[in-house]
Amino acid sequence: MTVVCLPGDGIGPEVMLEARRVLERLAPGVELEERLFGAAAIRAGGDPLPAETLAACRAAQAVLKGPIGDPAFDAADVRPEQGLLRLRKELAVYANLRPARRDGVDLLIVRELTGGLYFGARGTRPDGVVFDTCEYHPSEVERIARRGFELAFGRRRRLTSVDKANVLETSRLWRRVVNEIAPDYPDVEVEHMLVDNAAMQLASAPERFDVVLTENMFGDILSDLVAAVTGGLGVAPSASLGDAGPGLFEPVHGSAPDIAGRGVANPAAMLRSTALLLQHGLSRPAEARALETAVDEALIRAPTPDLGGTATTRTFGDAVLAAL
Ligand code: IPM
Ligand code: MG
Repeated sequence: MTVVCLPGDGIGPEVMLEARRVLERLAPGVELEERLFGAAAIRAGGDPLPAETLAACRAAQAVLKGPIGDPAFDAADVRPEQGLLRLRKELAVYANLRPARRDGVDLLIVRELTGGLYFGARGTRPDGVVFDTCEYHPSEVERIARRGFELAFGRRRRLTSVDKANVLETSRLWRRVVNEIAPDYPDVEVEHMLVDNAAMQLASAPERFDVVLTENMFGDILSDLVAAVTGGLGVAPSASLGDAGPGLFEPVHGSAPDIAGRGVANPAAMLRSTALLLQHGLSRPAEARALETAVDEALIRAPTPDLGGTATTRTFGDAVLAAL
């Protein structure tokens, strides 16, 4: 069994190191294979997702990925983010799960990850107009909506589908498909919510939500918002799953170039993503639970500067290993 590790950019290599230490402890038989990805891969060979890295990911049981993004490529034609979008598409991991917990709050964002504005036609017209298009096929909406219903059934059985159906065609499709399949899940209570209202309610009353189902771009924005109200970006993990093949596990946060290389980044999001990998990628639910509990404990005992503490990335990792 192999897990491919893509350390990524900025604080990526630092938080990945802690994830590797934990995986070595909790899944000793699993081989960890590190590959080039993101800015490091562009520097080495001009491609953020080299063919060899993609092949290794495809052959793996799961992929653990650090954050990517590097200001040096902000204005470049080839950017680290393109490698990430291609990786998600190539692995067909259309279901992005972003859980968030805080006392009284326990919600799960289910974000469509391989369609919409991120992957629609784009370009520049002769008159100078620049465009991106939001595109969805009904089958793409149906498969993520079914995932949302199934996940809601295993939780508190409430599904909030978020769209902008008062304005967008793709949102009207989204709402129609959700309503069409809802009778297949009679035990799940469904509501529709416009995205602007959802932003307000998630900020002011996050405890009222169970599963939040939404398209790619809305999910990107709402998941940062939810992270902010449930402990910060430093603690928010994600799992991206398809129907078969390896899942992709990565923190919600970015590469934080401002604090990179100083050893103070909070590895909690990366370690919680590792817990999701143990659960969904390696089918080791007991180890996943143990890691989640250990991270919760370390957040109390050894908070990093982003949470008002003085722990370093390494001492936080030590606290997790001690709790384990
Ligand atoms: C995320 C990130 C990515 C996204 C970026 C890095 C392309 O913000 O995973 O939320 O927009 O999906
Ligand atoms: Mg994001």
